[in-house]
This record gives sequence, structure tokens and C-alpha cells, in this order.
Amino acid sequence: MPQTERPVSMIDPSLLLRPEKVYDDKPIEAFRDYSIDDSDPIKERVRRTYYDMHTNQTVDFVKGKMEKWLKFNHFKSTVKDALIKLNELVDESDPDSDLPNIVHAFQTAERIRQEHPDKEWMHLIGLIHDLGKVMAFYDEPQWCVVGDTFPLGCKWGPSIVYGDDSFKDNPDSYNPKYNTENGIYKPKCGLEQLMMSWGHDEYLYRMLVHNKCKFPKDGLYMIRYHSFYPWHAGGDYKHLLIDSDEEIKQAVLEFNKYDLYTKSAEVPDIEALWPYYEGLIEKYMPGVLEW
Ligand SMILES: [Fe+2]
Ligand SMILES: [Fe+2]
Repeated sequence: MPQTERPVSMIDPSLLLRPEKVYDDKPIEAFRDYSIDDSDPIKERVRRTYYDMHTNQTVDFVKGKMEKWLKFNHFKSTVKDALIKLNELVDESDPDSDLPNIVHAFQTAERIRQEHPDKEWMHLIGLIHDLGKVMAFYDEPQWCVVGDTFPLGCKWGPSIVYGDDSFKDNPDSYNPKYNTENGIYKPKCGLEQLMMSWGHDEYLYRMLVHNKCKFPKDGLYMIRYHSFYPWHAGGDYKHLLIDSDEEIKQAVLEFNKYDLYTKSAEVPDIEALWPYYEGLIEKYMPGVLEW
């Protein structure tokens, strides 16, 4: 079905922000297609991942995951070994890529390197941005590891993919503490006060802080909010934001175009690229880290 004929909740809000451009021969509107078609196994896999996510992510669930993961006592690993581990992961929420995640990591990093040759920290952010997905190897289902994120404890944003129907079995939808416009938040509390759905963004952000990695603040924001499409692309939750959140958004949007539109780019020569990135790892996040 062409994009324009989809029901409103199926139109991806990031389309509104996209330049009229074709990336690597794939037209812009062909990315992030969340239309429902149960005869298409990839679309059905994506839909199922999001319905599970929207049914099971609740305030209590996220508190439990923070309790489990923010002790950083699951494993110890260098960044390179963790990246190699991602070779075994295919993201089930992603309609645009069926490649192992490490390929996506290098595609993103290399495109940033082409367009921002002087920002070496951002090359490394591109490489590591999905590393939080290693949680999938530690008994976490993909619906709480991958995919777009959204805040818990307040009304669901109107531009979340698959819309309200996907939240119909979520108990927080019916909890009066959580289902109002502001919910548990004060108006204009600021982006960083929001409790986000549990996934690879928040986990990796916290892990970088815990291990005292040396990225500038913009790099940390790119990690923490890159999957928050209902905010950075959909414009939801304005009533909870403060003026300075706009600067965070600009940083995240600058990162995001390389994350999203490089997925059909050619597969990079990973072996040849390692020495450059190992140098960056040594500078910004050296040694064995706690995960
Ligand atoms: Fe991601
Ligand atoms: Fe990504």
C-alpha cells in the first residue's frame, strides 16, 4: 500500500522531517514502513515485536529492568568483543535491515566519518550506538531490547507506531495514575526526567556513564534518545519538555539520519576498518568494561 493510503497511526512521523532524497537507491518513503500485511513475514515479525512491546512495557516492568541491569554485573567485555557478539543478532523490529547488527554499526559509523571527518567521537558513537542490544543474549526478549522507545507513566503519544490498538492489553492504559496527559510528571519537567520504555538506548547510555567513557554530552544524548521517534520525529510530548531539550533534539536528529538511511548501503570491509576504530575505542572507552 503506498504511504499516503495508510491509516494515520501507520504513517511513520519521521517522514515529515525527511528531505526529498533517495539514499543508496532506496527512496526515503520506503524506510520505516509499518503497514500491516500478515502475508509478509517481515512485516508480521515487526508488528508482533511492537505489539508485544506495547503490551508488556509498564512502569513496574521498567523499574524491574533497571533493578536487573543497572548493577552492571552481567559480564565484562571490551567494546570490540561486544560488537563482534552482535554479529549474531538480527533486529526483529527493523523493517529496513536483515543484516547482522555489526554491519549496521559499521555502515552508520562510516557514513558519519564521510560527512563529519573532524568529529571522531561521533564516528565511534555511530559504531557503538546499538551495543545495548547485547541484552538479547542475556534472556531478554527483543521487545524490551530493540525498536522505538516512548515514555511510561503518561498517556501514549499519538505518533507511536501501531497506535492505541497496540496498547489495548497494557494495564497502564487503564491506570488513572498513568493514563493522563502529564501522568506521573510535572508539566515542563524536561526530557531527562522521563522514564523511557526499557531498551538498548537507556541501557547503553547508563553503561557509558557507569564506565566513565569520555564522550561529549551530545554523544551521550545521541545514544540515549536515538530510538525516541515519537519525540524527535513525531513531535509528541511537547508539554513535558523544556527549551534546552530542543538542543538535544538537534543533536539526535543529526545522528539519526546516518542510523536510518545507511541500512541499504553496501556492506563495508569490516576487517580493514577495525584498526581505525580500535584507536578510537582506546581513546574514549578503553579496556574491559562492566556490562
Ligand atoms: Fe538503535
Ligand atoms: Fe541503529
